Amino acid sequence: MQKILPRSNLFRKPILDMYPYVAPLEGRMGKDYLRLDFNERTIPPHPRVLEELARYIDKGNLELYPEYGNLNEIIANYIGVDTQEIVPTVGSDQGIDIITRALVTDGDKVIIPIPTFAMLKQSALVQGANIIAPPYKGRGYEFPFNEVMEEINPGVNLVVICKPNNPTGTPVSREQSEEIIKKAADVGVGVLADEAYHEYAPEFTVTDLIDKYPNLFITRTFSKTMGIPSLRAGVIISQKQNIRELKKIRGPYDVGMLTVVALKSLRYKEVREDIKRYVNEIMHVSKPVVEKFYRENDIQFAPSAANFHLLSMPEKFYKFMKARSILVRPRSDPAGTVRVSIGTKKDTDVYLEAIREFIEQVK
Ligand SMILES: Cc1ncc(COP(=O)(O)O)c(C=O)c1O
Repeated sequence: MQKILPRSNLFRKPILDMYPYVAPLEGRMGKDYLRLDFNERTIPPHPRVLEELARYIDKGNLELYPEYGNLNEIIANYIGVDTQEIVPTVGSDQGIDIITRALVTDGDKVIIPIPTFAMLKQSALVQGANIIAPPYKGRGYEFPFNEVMEEINPGVNLVVICKPNNPTGTPVSREQSEEIIKKAADVGVGVLADEAYHEYAPEFTVTDLIDKYPNLFITRTFSKTMGIPSLRAGVIISQKQNIRELKKIRGPYDVGMLTVVALKSLRYKEVREDIKRYVNEIMHVSKPVVEKFYRENDIQFAPSAANFHLLSMPEKFYKFMKARSILVRPRSDPAGTVRVSIGTKKDTDVYLEAIREFIEQVK
C-alpha cells in the first residue's frame, strides 16, 4: 500500500505558508452588468479582432500546437522596440511570474510597495522571498520613493514598481523611476516595472531606458485596452540577453493560438487606432466628468494616472451598485475603499446616475 505523505513533506514551506489569490470573477459573464470592477475595457474588441478569431476557428487547425510566425515582430512594432527585446506571455501575470522565478529564490529580498496588485506579491511568495513592503503614503497614496531608495542595497534581489499602481492609480515619475533603476543597477539588483496600464499613462513609461539598464524588466498587458483579458495576453520587454534567459522559463507554446491570432490583428491600423480611440474616450471624456462629480460631491478619491479610481466608500456602496447591475470592487486593503474603473461616456452616464441615487439615500 502506498504511504500517504504528510503535506509538509511534499510541498516547499513557502507554498504551505501562503494562500491562493482568489479574485471575485465568478458570475460576471452572461448577465447584463456594467463591469467596473476589474479595470477591463468595457466594450468588445475591435470587430477586426473578432473576425480574425472567427476565421481561424472556421479554418480549423485547433488540433495543432500553436505556431507563432511573425508574432514577435508585430508586437515589437506595436510597442516600438526590437523584436529580440520582447517575449509574449500568458497575460502579464505570467510575465511577472517568469521574471520573479528568474531572479528570486528562497530567502531573497524583494521590495514591493503596498497596497498593490496581488500577483506581484504572490509570485514573490511562491519563490520563498522575504518581502519588504514600504506603504504608499497618506490620503493621496503617494509613491514611497525615499523608502524604496533606502531599501535598495546589494542584499536585495528585486524591486517592483507598479506604474500606475493598482489599486491606487499612483504613477511613478520618470525621474524617480530612473533613479530607482540606476541605484538598483549600481548594486546589481533587478527592477520589475509593471506597466499594465501603460496605454492610459504613456508619459510614465521606462521602455526607452531598456538599452541603458540591463537590470530593467517591463511587463505589459493586452487585457486593459485591447479588450482580450479572456485570451490572456501579455509581454515582457527587456534587453535581448535578458529575454534569451527568460525564454528558458516560458514554454515554447504557452501562449495559445487564439491569443496569437488576436494579437496578430495589431498589424491592422484600424485595430491600433481603435485602442487609441478607446483610451482617449476613457481618459479625456469620461475621466474628467467622473472626477468633477467626485469633487462636487466630496467623494474622496486617490489621484489616478489610470482608468480607475480608489474611492473612500463604505462596503454598502458595492451592494447598492450591484443591485443596479453595476459591479465595482470593494477592497479590504486599504479598508473602507472601493475601486471603480472608468468606462465609456455611455457607461459613465449610467454610473453617475446610480451614484447620485446612492448619495441621495445616504444623506
Ligand atoms: C498592475 C497589474 N499588473 C498586471 C495585471 C495582470 O494583467 P493580465 O491580465 O495581463 O495578466 C493586472 C490586472 O489587473 C494589474 O492590475
